[in-house]
Amino acid sequence: MPVDVDAEIIANRPLSSEYNVLTLAAPSIAASAAPGQFVMLKAAAGVDPLLRRPFSVFEIIRDRHGTASAITVLSKRIGPSTSLIYDARPGQHMMCLGPLGRPFTVIDPPAEAWMIAGGVGLAPFATLAEALHARGVATTLFYGARRGAELFYLDFFRQLGVDLVLTTEDGSTGEHGRVIAPLNRALAARSSAAAVMLYACGPEGMLAAAARTALSYGRPCQVSVERIMGCGLGGCYSCVVPMRSEDGTFHHVRSCIAGPVLPGDQIRWDSHN
Ligand SMILES: Cc1cc2nc3c(=O)[nH]c(=O)nc-3n(C[C@H](O)[C@H](O)[C@H](O)COP(=O)(O)OP(=O)(O)OC[C@H]3O[C@@H](n4cnc5c(N)ncnc54)[C@H](O)[C@@H]3O)c2cc1C
Ligand code: FES
Repeated sequence: MPVDVDAEIIANRPLSSEYNVLTLAAPSIAASAAPGQFVMLKAAAGVDPLLRRPFSVFEIIRDRHGTASAITVLSKRIGPSTSLIYDARPGQHMMCLGPLGRPFTVIDPPAEAWMIAGGVGLAPFATLAEALHARGVATTLFYGARRGAELFYLDFFRQLGVDLVLTTEDGSTGEHGRVIAPLNRALAARSSAAAVMLYACGPEGMLAAAARTALSYGRPCQVSVERIMGCGLGGCYSCVVPMRSEDGTFHHVRSCIAGPVLPGDQIRWDSHN
């Protein structure tokens, strides 16, 4: 059950001039959040901004007894709420509703997990990598950003034994270009007898490309979609995603409750690309 917490900000760590990691004291959310779930954050009290904004649960913070005590969110500053989150100070409070949405389905060995992240789409993969590590699943992260300085938490993933395949649009780190190119090569090189589950989160164009690439190799792909969300609870229909029905027609789902994690091969990508 989601809970609404008046969460104290414990820490705010800038990673760059746009990205920061905010730590919120929300033990009940931390204790029950599953990889891929999100929270709705009200960045300021009062009416401006009026609506909460959705953020993936980035990390679960545990105290020295191992009890979940806080969550973090990885935020990219693009507008009013994310600017307030970037500038937030420890001691301030933010209303935090969660955990919300349908999480990733975590696989077991011998299947391998390939995570595909674009930019701030890295956010749901820290908790997923931990869950996969706990199950002994061999995991690769294909991670693309605009430049090397925007590739974050690489050591975190390395310490979990995750293989990293990095790309940057300016070529400053890893392969020059977008993350779909090495994904495509890796899928082509992998025997179809070996089970691989793909997980993708990032800009819509990248998600569509990841889902299409997965489909062309007959691989399943769970995508975490990012729609504008007014409520996060199924009440406002701001977040609908068109999906293919079994009979070839289309229907819409509310991605805040049916997702944000959805099967990539069932989304009608051409309607919003
Ligand atoms: C399930 C989910 C999880 C998310 N997790 C994260 C996260 O972990 N970290 C993070 O930084 N962001 C995340 N986002 C996106 C985040 O919610 C938006 O960046 C945020 O709402 C922007 O708020 P704002 O007030 O700063 O800017 P706004 O003024 O609300 O938006 C600025 C501009 O971005 C556009 N926009 C807003 N939200 C989205 C969106 N979801 N997709 C595409 N365009 C959008 C607006 O139309 C506007 O043009 C997530 C979104 C969803 C749906
Ligand atoms: S965000 Fe309101 S219905 Fe999905």
